[in-house]
Amino acid sequence: MTLLTDPLVAAPTHRGRRLRRTPALRRLVRETRLDPSMLVAPIFVRPGHDVREEIGSMPGQHRLSVDRLPELAERLLEAGIGSVLLFGLPESKDAEGSGAWDEQGIVQDAIRELRRATADALAIVADVCLCEYTSHGHCGVIRGGSVDNDATLPLLARTAASLAEAGADVVAPSAMMDGQVAAIRAALPDTPILAYAAKHASAFYGPFREAADSAPAFGDRRAYQMDPANGREALAEILADIAEGADMIMVKPALPALDLMAAARAATTLPIAAYQVSGEYAAICAAAERGWLDRRATALETLTAIARAGAGIVVTYFALETAAWLREEWR
Ligand code: PBG
Repeated sequence: MTLLTDPLVAAPTHRGRRLRRTPALRRLVRETRLDPSMLVAPIFVRPGHDVREEIGSMPGQHRLSVDRLPELAERLLEAGIGSVLLFGLPESKDAEGSGAWDEQGIVQDAIRELRRATADALAIVADVCLCEYTSHGHCGVIRGGSVDNDATLPLLARTAASLAEAGADVVAPSAMMDGQVAAIRAALPDTPILAYAAKHASAFYGPFREAADSAPAFGDRRAYQMDPANGREALAEILADIAEGADMIMVKPALPALDLMAAARAATTLPIAAYQVSGEYAAICAAAERGWLDRRATALETLTAIARAGAGIVVTYFALETAAWLREEWR
């Protein structure tokens, strides 16, 4: 039915406001509902004991030592949050990023601790990338001045295998190397892969790179992350990752890429995740601090828009707060 032949619209008596009169009516006809179980909380893990260090560009977010993870996990579980996404700041870095696949690596330790503390209650997702572990901050190994795609693939597969071995429920390759999903799939036939499929080279990752100490030492990531101008190419990336064996696909950043979520939703039956990234979070925080935007209303509106566009899973730094806000809404 097109809009013009829809009797609701065509009828001269159409009054959209009839169903907007009270909160109860609005709630009844609401098309998109957020639930804490669809939210994924990113966590930055760092070395040390009893450390909880606030991230300057991401107010309310912290780098935590492994021993501080169980208390956060407990809060997330109490709030009904479904999952965590782990990032690590290693003790030391090298040219290849070997800390990424170290059996005693920071994220491997974090996974074991979370598993011990929470059993299977939280779905533990581990980001698979080298940028936090390489001395140069790029997402792969450097050969002849640029990131060598095929030399990086075995390292990503090895990293994913080590994270799965430590107990990750899901591995999430984010390096944007061609063939990374196939390489990981070959190494891990039974581990779910959440593929960062459509990942733009976005200015909105800035605060994350401070948080994870992963800014490239030279150049930028535009030779491997996607041009934000390209939507058809994003769909091609998504379909390629599905063909390579992805179980879920991710679109990132979120608000600047709502069209891609809708396109992905129409193109596949797989679960679709969106990553509301660090810069999206920081922008709302900064405006709210100045009194220019309402933090709660803005965050909920953006998350609802992301879900409306087609994402059934949302990675967001607002996860804990959102769960609390949603509980209040029912009162
Ligand atoms: C690792 C990775 C990044 C993000 C997620 N995984 C940084 C980057 O690609 O530069 C960004 C997440 C965020 O901004 O919140 N490659």
